[in-house]
Amino acid sequence: MFVNLSRWIPVFCVFLTLSSGISSAAEDEAAPPDPAKASAAPIVPGPNDKPASTLRDAFADDFLIGVALSSRQVNGMDAASSDFAARHFSSVTAENEMKWQSLHPWPGVFNFRDADAYVEYASKHGMKLIGHALVWHSQTPDWVFEGESGKPATRDQLLARMREHIQAVAGHYKGKVKGWDVVNEALSDGGSDPLRDSPWKEIIGEDFIDHAFRFAKEADPNAELYYNDYGLEDPRKRANCVKLLRGLLDRGVPIDGVGTQSHFQLDEPSNEQVEQTIKDFAALGLKVIITELDVDVLPSYGPAGIADINRREKSDPSLNPYTGGLPAEIQQKLAQRYADLFAIYLRHRKSITRVTFWGLYDGHTWLNHFPIRGRTNHPLLFDRNFKPKPAFFEVLKLAEATAPAGDE
Ligand code: XIL
Repeated sequence: MFVNLSRWIPVFCVFLTLSSGISSAAEDEAAPPDPAKASAAPIVPGPNDKPASTLRDAFADDFLIGVALSSRQVNGMDAASSDFAARHFSSVTAENEMKWQSLHPWPGVFNFRDADAYVEYASKHGMKLIGHALVWHSQTPDWVFEGESGKPATRDQLLARMREHIQAVAGHYKGKVKGWDVVNEALSDGGSDPLRDSPWKEIIGEDFIDHAFRFAKEADPNAELYYNDYGLEDPRKRANCVKLLRGLLDRGVPIDGVGTQSHFQLDEPSNEQVEQTIKDFAALGLKVIITELDVDVLPSYGPAGIADINRREKSDPSLNPYTGGLPAEIQQKLAQRYADLFAIYLRHRKSITRVTFWGLYDGHTWLNHFPIRGRTNHPLLFDRNFKPKPAFFEVLKLAEATAPAGDE
């Protein structure tokens, strides 16, 4: 383990200049940072900055380091975010724009404009583009599951719609995406059935997953194809996932990797569970991907590990305690949490091909609205002013301290 201190000086320069930089607080998409002020802020490398002061350079020998961005963050409307993200990340996922409801809102109507902006952005900045997600029960219009005269669609009807959608979408992005989340969140969170009661399973049956992967392979034979889900660190759900993946592999279904979303809390799941999950998946010979990393720091009465976007909880002021900023003690806990996670990721960097954060900075994260709307969460490495948090420095320090590939 060797840390070259001279590589740290630029990092601290970035830290100091950023601390005195942008002062406007961006709460969400509705209030992005003032681009005029933001562009004056030193979020691009200064002449003395060594490349290793960015995440994408620090992890270049380990895995892709990715970020989910909103439409405004890639189409130039939020230029500060666009530049900042390109500086730190080597891969990008569309936060919403490649989901069924965005791309294919009505039968026969495809709208690729917003999603195409990601192709342009990724190519301009030398970033890999990840497609998210082809088949999911959420953010999919009702018509997809409807048949004639108010009845549910038949199996054949729904399979035909699935194939048409995948062919059109994965076909449109053929050669432009590195990989697709083909099926998202098919597993249940409890009960005797390993699979969730989604209309996909109810109407088509359990083999809807096989079909989705085969259709995706047909449409873009060179894209990597992933199964993606949350809560896989839970031993029950993980065992069901391993069984599901083994079944796919045994049946020759074309699958390349498994994504564990990794919407975590400060204490849950445990480091042991996180590491065991990576080991169990790697043992199947699949690529392991951390697809939606964030750490929720807010208290909750509900089942915190359940990242189903349909989960809603009652608002209560005691569940929104950090509106004025994160207390030092929690900031430190968050830094330690990220340090523990990245130590695990780096230990398994031969199996892990990408670690993607679900959001760029605390000013825009789905966790400000999930599972309760309008809270002030602090789940990412950069705060509301794009200022790197202690967690950022922990993560960067670990990357810098890891020997280049081949030196182990
Ligand atoms: C979230 C987006 O971040 C939100 O903007 C949107 O309102 C709901 O979906 N698991 C997933 C992601 O696979 O697609 C979800 O993204 C977060 C949970």
